[in-house]
Amino acid sequence: MSPAAQFRTLPARYYTDPDHFRRELEVFFCNGWVCAGRADVIPNAGDYFVREVAGENIILVRDSASEVRAFYDVCRHRGTRLCTAAEGNFGRAIKCPYHAWTYGLDGRLLGAPHMEVPGFSREDYPLHGVKTALWDGHVFIHMGRDPNPINMGRDPDPLEGHLSDLPRKFAGWRMQELRLYRRIVYGLKANWKLFILNYSECLHCPSVHPALNRLTDYLGADNDPPMRGYIGGAMGFRDGMETMSFDGKKRREFLPGLNAEERRKVCYYAIYPNLLLSLNPDYMMIHTLWPKAVDRTEILCEFYFHPDEMAKPDFQAADAIEFWDSVNRQDWHIVEMSQAGIQSRSYTPGPYSHREALLHAFDQLVVEKTGFSG
Ligand code: FES
Ligand SMILES: [Fe+2]
Repeated sequence: MSPAAQFRTLPARYYTDPDHFRRELEVFFCNGWVCAGRADVIPNAGDYFVREVAGENIILVRDSASEVRAFYDVCRHRGTRLCTAAEGNFGRAIKCPYHAWTYGLDGRLLGAPHMEVPGFSREDYPLHGVKTALWDGHVFIHMGRDPNPINMGRDPDPLEGHLSDLPRKFAGWRMQELRLYRRIVYGLKANWKLFILNYSECLHCPSVHPALNRLTDYLGADNDPPMRGYIGGAMGFRDGMETMSFDGKKRREFLPGLNAEERRKVCYYAIYPNLLLSLNPDYMMIHTLWPKAVDRTEILCEFYFHPDEMAKPDFQAADAIEFWDSVNRQDWHIVEMSQAGIQSRSYTPGPYSHREALLHAFDQLVVEKTGFSG
């Protein structure tokens, strides 16, 4: 048997078993770093958005010291959810809609009407916080509790460890400077891992994305060795192509920090478990994945541009957005067909090619972290 033939796709239960799905949520989403979104969408004190992560509502809010903080959306009185909207501005305080307990933007309980109860102290009831960290404009959250109190003061799982060399690798894109222009929300009838697998190979590009394959050569991916926190690589443009759009023509200036080599390629990185970073020479596209069920995933697809470009009267973005909307829909369709086939009683794991090494690396991480073998 050749080495390549020994690597096979995962058994069906990884994509169909609700119990296994819950285990993955616990391991990847509740006990590791998850990308919640971008700091630039909450620029002012009191601005917030809510993300549902593994059934938990998490509030991301900009506090009055301009820090981004995260809290569970759970009132400390009788547990009620605080937020009725998915995004907005709290003003100076977060007020529970039930009995009007009021919290500061830093989570401290400021007011608790009618709590003249012996022994009650507001200091004992701040909102439950969630750890946050920023990378170049991306907001990450970590819901896991430190299992070892002896570590007090030392983060046992810093974001830097998860990202390893990515901050240095992508410094030229200066992602922090970019601003959200457009968000499209998609519903995918497939397991979240199938999205990552599909994103991480271009063998399907000639048959599924003929327009994309005219811009970059599907055999031209220059992949990094798989890391614990991510997989990915870059693809160089074909001659005469400058960016990912229907005609490959660039309608915006290069992002200002890129060198000559970075201007000639597009980078595709899947940062576990839910951030897919597509870095073009003139814009950034981000997918974030929000698993809803073993066979259902919500996908936020966002387009970011440099504010200097967006300020120009002749600024254009439709070339990029319409191109990727088309490619996205082609991907969703084939991934949903994949989910449907894997659910068949006839499905058995199939052999990976040597060009699917990143997929095998992700599978192995899933097997290792969820504690099941085979
Ligand atoms: S449940 Fe929030 S104030 Fe009572
Ligand atoms: Fe694709």
